[in-house]
Amino acid sequence: MPENTVMKEQLCGQKQILVLFGSPHKSGTTARLLEAFLEPFPNAKIQSVNAFERNIAPCNACNVCTTAEKCSIADFDEIDSLLRGADVIVVATPVYNLSFPAPLKAIVDRTQRYFSARFSLGLRPPIEKHKLAALLVTAGSLDLDGADIISRQLKMVFSVMNTSIEGRAVWAGTDSDKGCQTFAAAAKSAKDLALAIKSKL
Ligand SMILES: Cc1cc2nc3c(=O)[nH]c(=O)nc-3n(C[C@H](O)[C@H](O)[C@H](O)COP(=O)(O)O)c2cc1C
Repeated sequence: MPENTVMKEQLCGQKQILVLFGSPHKSGTTARLLEAFLEPFPNAKIQSVNAFERNIAPCNACNVCTTAEKCSIADFDEIDSLLRGADVIVVATPVYNLSFPAPLKAIVDRTQRYFSARFSLGLRPPIEKHKLAALLVTAGSLDLDGADIISRQLKMVFSVMNTSIEGRAVWAGTDSDKGCQTFAAAAKSAKDLALAIKSKL
């Protein structure tokens, strides 16, 4: 999306929600949890980055970002604009082997440019606009280790990105519970989180 679109929407006062979507399934469990979260935001501008469709290259540690405020690989430029313009960042992801699916992990690693901007270039904060973030996680098992690990990773990454994590909603046990009671509990927790974030905007 062009930068002038971002600016126009900011001037209109419409809140911008950026979804970083980590599932390969557009109508899977993660999509259902996301739908519950977004319900309280009928008037927000919602922009979605589908990690599996974008197939963003991984960070190759070229270190260009330690000497200038830029990235050597252009495929992140649009996500950079979206991140800067967003009021709310929603990370919606399944657990894959106790972490993010690889395409979403690549996006997370590409935020290294903000770490470098903060700690190598001294930009404080490296992203001007403060953001609120929500984490939505699905997991096949009832084990919460994957959600906890993802939470820790994002807490570290978002702390340099002027972004505070307001909470998380986890739908655990999806492998044995597709469409059953625990979805209702997870959907409620996603909606409650959305309402809490909305009240702060
Ligand atoms: C490659 C792969 C790895 C997975 N690893 C885990 C895991 O470590 N822990 C877990 O609880 N579920 C794991 N799962 C299950 C998914 O997290 C679960 O099925 C999730 O609900 C899928 O979301 P989706 O319906 O949006 O695709 C894994 C699934 C796949 C395909």
